[in-house]
Amino acid sequence: AGATLVPTPPMGWNDWNAFGCDVDEQLVEQTADRLVSTGLRAAGYQYVNIDDCWMAKTRDAAGRLVPDPVKFPHGITGVAAYVHAKGLKLGIYESAGTMTCAGFPGSLGHEQQDADSFASWGVDYLKYDNCYNQGLPSLQRYRAMGDALAKTGRPIVYSLCNWGLDSVWTWGATVGQLWRTTGDIDASFGRMLDIFHANAKLADAAGPGGWNDPDMLEVGNGMTATEDRAHFSLWAEMAAPLIAGTDLRKASADTLAVYGNTEVISVDQDRLGKQGRPVSMAAGLDVLAKPLADGGVAVTLFNENPQPAVISTTAAAVGLPAAKGYLLRDLWAHTTGESAGAVSATVPGHGVVMYKVTPTDHPGGQHPDLVLDTKVP
Ligand code: DGJ
Repeated sequence: AGATLVPTPPMGWNDWNAFGCDVDEQLVEQTADRLVSTGLRAAGYQYVNIDDCWMAKTRDAAGRLVPDPVKFPHGITGVAAYVHAKGLKLGIYESAGTMTCAGFPGSLGHEQQDADSFASWGVDYLKYDNCYNQGLPSLQRYRAMGDALAKTGRPIVYSLCNWGLDSVWTWGATVGQLWRTTGDIDASFGRMLDIFHANAKLADAAGPGGWNDPDMLEVGNGMTATEDRAHFSLWAEMAAPLIAGTDLRKASADTLAVYGNTEVISVDQDRLGKQGRPVSMAAGLDVLAKPLADGGVAVTLFNENPQPAVISTTAAAVGLPAAKGYLLRDLWAHTTGESAGAVSATVPGHGVVMYKVTPTDHPGGQHPDLVLDTKVP
């Protein structure tokens, strides 16, 4: 199911990083409107995902989950219809335990009944958390819900949120379509960096149909503009799900430009579906390479340190074949240069330079399809 549901990493929005428990129908519907009006839907963002705290504190007399009637006066059915009418899809949240992390009824032991509810409401995506899990093995608990979702007959993307426990990357693809590889992110450079390091080691596990999930994006939530660009670039380089985590109703033009950078998104969504790998990571100066379907390679030069630094690699080192020259497309500056083989840049502290490097037999500005506007390095 995975390869048809998520041939490339899922893209969308989730309320948790910006709002925590403070979710309601208005927020979800206004966000759907914003995804359309900002152009982010057109850029690929598709899932509008509700996180924890959408439920009433107790199940109904028949044992069914009940949406909080104050937060969701039209139920999840109503909000799903609204989101679908905007050409988007709806995601919801539960936990593979007796309660969600915020203390609402969990799905452990209620898997089929809850999956049936989600399907009947028109849900397209389930993020399944790991709180109050009673110490039962992850695989057993996550498989129970996966089987229940399959039985509904509705295609529902299944996001395993078990925080990287029990080596989920070794079995995640047999149960769902994405799996969290770490604990929670926050809007700090240090936490983003730790998660990047953990997730970058797991490239073997990812591919079309099943993706490592280093958690939702914090772009717009407090890091500097340079750090936000680094965060977004690294997640794209790692073929991570791109789930925007900020208030899109109030997001600045800079924030929207990061989420909306279609050249970086294209790297994430490349149909070859390879997670980028570290080529070198010495003294906090990192080079990552992600092979692309058209024979190019996305190269992210990432400076973990606070001071600017030159980071250098070569076309050969990132896995490109020998060629007369290479086109270097800068995915943030939106300029194209060329090189005989060096791939190098001065990278701001906590920042990235991200290139798409493509072999060319027409060096020296003779490439028929491209006007070269810069020479790099
Ligand atoms: C823990 C998860 O990892 C978070 O992403 C979020 O879903 C919270 N639980 C909600 O309680």
